[in-house]
Amino acid sequence: MTEPRLQTTAYRAESSLSREFYRRATKVMPGGNTRHSTVLSPYPIYVSRGQGCRVTDVEGQERIDFLNNYTSLILGHANPQVTRAVQQRMALGSAFTMPTEVEVELAELIVSRVSYIDQVRFCNSGSEAVMMAVRAARAFTGKTKIAKFEGAYHGVYDYVQVSEGPSPGDWGDAEAPASVAEPSIAASVASEVVVLPWNNIQACRRLIARHKDELAAVIVDALPLGIGLISPQSGFLESLRDETERYRILLISDEVMSFRLSHDGAMHEHHIRPDLTTLAKIIGGGFPVGAVAGSAGVMSVFDHTRDWKVRHGGTFNANPVTMTAGLETMKQMTPEAYERLNRMGEAIRNRLTRLFADRRIAATVCGKGSLFAAHLTDCELVDFRSLQGFSRTNPVYGELCHQMLANGIVVTPRGIFGCLSTPMTDVESDVFVEALDRSLTALEYAG
Ligand SMILES: Cc1ncc(COP(=O)(O)O)c(C=O)c1O
Repeated sequence: MTEPRLQTTAYRAESSLSREFYRRATKVMPGGNTRHSTVLSPYPIYVSRGQGCRVTDVEGQERIDFLNNYTSLILGHANPQVTRAVQQRMALGSAFTMPTEVEVELAELIVSRVSYIDQVRFCNSGSEAVMMAVRAARAFTGKTKIAKFEGAYHGVYDYVQVSEGPSPGDWGDAEAPASVAEPSIAASVASEVVVLPWNNIQACRRLIARHKDELAAVIVDALPLGIGLISPQSGFLESLRDETERYRILLISDEVMSFRLSHDGAMHEHHIRPDLTTLAKIIGGGFPVGAVAGSAGVMSVFDHTRDWKVRHGGTFNANPVTMTAGLETMKQMTPEAYERLNRMGEAIRNRLTRLFADRRIAATVCGKGSLFAAHLTDCELVDFRSLQGFSRTNPVYGELCHQMLANGIVVTPRGIFGCLSTPMTDVESDVFVEALDRSLTALEYAG
């Protein structure tokens, strides 16, 4: 590849507001940010507003948003019904030390849609939901270890951050991956986590059997972004359910992101009944949210009138503003709305595959439903390790991201990843694919 001829946008100008805001930010926030997923080199684009599937930066430049606050805004920005309902709710008070009807309504909606969810408890983020699910599993089983997949992201909570992004120097045996923890995580935490290799059911069986007496739960995301949206191979999730059931280990389905794949829950099509499910993102309608949900039996560990084993508070849990936004959003997400979005997802994945084939670029397009990720390799992608060298470490994604931004598309510098929102039509998908085509040309990328 030759030196990229980077197109420029107003945000990169010497006098840009983003540059100035970032200069101020670096003085008062470490690294100038408060969320690593917003990092963009040399500095981020500061946004001023969003409407539908478009966002406008502080320079006044409009772009199509294919990140949607990391998949959470399934209706896009400032959906009129959600905005109206939230404004009305705000005028009545935003948080109380008493429950409100709308939390019951949102819980009822979730329970009515997802056959494997009997009961729900709300919190304020996906990370919190995962933490409460792990604690519920420990309380229910009387065991303490958890198993998670190498490379999978489940939020910012010590146990699930083990082996979130290990490197070849420390990840150990492919059949029994090492539990790798960053220095901020206690070694004792890492020793409580069994790391499983994605799509290797024989190794998973062996590891689960080896730790069966200590494992409280296996946590799995049916379409893990940390593993490049590589789908589970046929029968993989089903075998995982069988193995966990055999040893009375709970299965936690982390649907914080994958709940956007299906009206009936991400595990519905696999005919799997996880014991616990974690939700967040779309169920908050653009506001901070999380939920731990599951079978009535397991959820009883939270029930102060019964088998109370897990204390769970939270000043803003189920605040009526979030609950209202979530309810108005989920009501609009009818089966037809999911089908339309998922059809558009299929179409854009096919168009991307064709684009790479036409340009004779080695690439693999992963994803499902309204989520897609393209990896610049034609090596077989099966697990986290098979992605190394192509995604996380490849500087071309950062360069592509800047080209895409210049071509009017919001994406991340960490890979060719995107998600759809309901205000989008085939027009926006076309613009995405054309922008990628132009970006590859500008970089003279030939694979
Ligand atoms: C699968 C999964 N689990 C958990 C989380 C954490 O959710 P939150 O950012 O709301 O804490 C995320 C966030 O992206 C996620 O994708």
